[in-house]
Amino acid sequence: MREGPSIPSSTALPGSKLSPTVLLTAAVAALGGLLFGYDTSVISGAMLFLKTDFNISDKQLEFAVGIALAGALVGSGLAGYLTDRWGRRTVLIITGIGFGVFAVLSGLAPGLTTFAIARFFVGICIGIASLVTPLYLAEMSPARIRGALVSLNQLAITVGIMVAYFVDYALASSQNWRWMFISAVFPSLVLLIGMIFLPESPRWLARAGFRERALENFHRLGRGAEAEAELQDVEQVLREERGGFGMLFQPGFRVAVLVGIGLAIFQQITGINTIIYYSPAILRMSGYSSDKAAILAAAIIGVANVLVTVVSILLVDRLGRRFLLLLGTLGMAVSLTLVGIAFHTDSASSVVFYEVIAYIVSFGIGLGPVVWLLISEIYPTKIRGKAMSIATLCVWGANWLVAGTFLSLIHAAGRAGTFWIFAAICVAAFFFCLLFVPETKGRSLEDIERYWHHFSGKTV
Ligand code: BGC
Repeated sequence: MREGPSIPSSTALPGSKLSPTVLLTAAVAALGGLLFGYDTSVISGAMLFLKTDFNISDKQLEFAVGIALAGALVGSGLAGYLTDRWGRRTVLIITGIGFGVFAVLSGLAPGLTTFAIARFFVGICIGIASLVTPLYLAEMSPARIRGALVSLNQLAITVGIMVAYFVDYALASSQNWRWMFISAVFPSLVLLIGMIFLPESPRWLARAGFRERALENFHRLGRGAEAEAELQDVEQVLREERGGFGMLFQPGFRVAVLVGIGLAIFQQITGINTIIYYSPAILRMSGYSSDKAAILAAAIIGVANVLVTVVSILLVDRLGRRFLLLLGTLGMAVSLTLVGIAFHTDSASSVVFYEVIAYIVSFGIGLGPVVWLLISEIYPTKIRGKAMSIATLCVWGANWLVAGTFLSLIHAAGRAGTFWIFAAICVAAFFFCLLFVPETKGRSLEDIERYWHHFSGKTV
């Protein structure tokens, strides 16, 4: 039986400590996740006012919501290339500038066209941040705590969503949708200034041939005497990683790539962002009497999303990924079926509110954090980077499709019918996870790699 790639020897490094620089780096870099969450969901409260201010139809409103997601699709496609060429830190600095500049421009937009252009560029920044933030976090952290620090990104996403809801709520009475967008300039500035002072990823420096600077940055990150051993380990992993896109389709890896794509698509087509982006609109449909009350209810949904993400992070290494995914998709299917029934029978708006909370809790325990975690750990080392970028593209492609067609789907299938369609997709997601997603809890990376080789009839 041969040794696995280099990750296991890196995890075995004795005494890798959590240094203050690593903590600071994680906190600043997680602002990339926070801006991802903030900028994708701030539109939910703003759209109620955009529609009247710009005097636009439902189709145009759908376009205004979806355009940032189109940008994110482009951004996540570009991110892998840009960050391999310029480095993680440089790309995050440029992204911080982009987030700030285009937040201001979308807030100042005089009409739908300029608004859409600015939001498209915000979207590009979101797409780049969605790939580079977890990548940078993973590369900066000692192997021992890499999982926890990568999950911090999902926590930051949910905090960003929650803050957006509260900003929307605070500005709702003055109908000041412009400041809802402009407010993103503050975290963008912190990201920009913070990243200027933080070190470049030593892993990227090693890959780009700057060995000495890589070693120096490992020292800055508090690795002390272990810096040289960790760098050698990184160099060994880099040797394993060489190979083109063709490798993704080799028999042993193909199934892993397909499982990642499936997880990424199911995370989105089970309807999460119909709730995240449209919850004030959905609650208004269910009978909430004012925009402000609907936005406050959405803010409470945002709080539930953050709290349940913390719970999931605490449970994922005890109960396992599969258990949380199965429990979550089942809960999502049941709660969406109930939302459909509530619309069908014209139940009270409070009933819809509690059912939506049950849906968010089910997503936040499973598909939300666990999908991002799995796509960072299920791939064999040799194809991890490329396979992750394909999965990220699938997340944004599916997100765009769902958010961009939601209002049309409601017109075509009715309110109840729309939520029943999403409930049926949750059932499909449940069976996908049951049949195809392996449990990775407590398994070494070579165990996982060996598992995929069984699909090609090879043993390692
Ligand atoms: C998803 C986002 C979603 C968020 C909600 C993330 O894992 O990728 O699309 O808006 O969770 O918490």
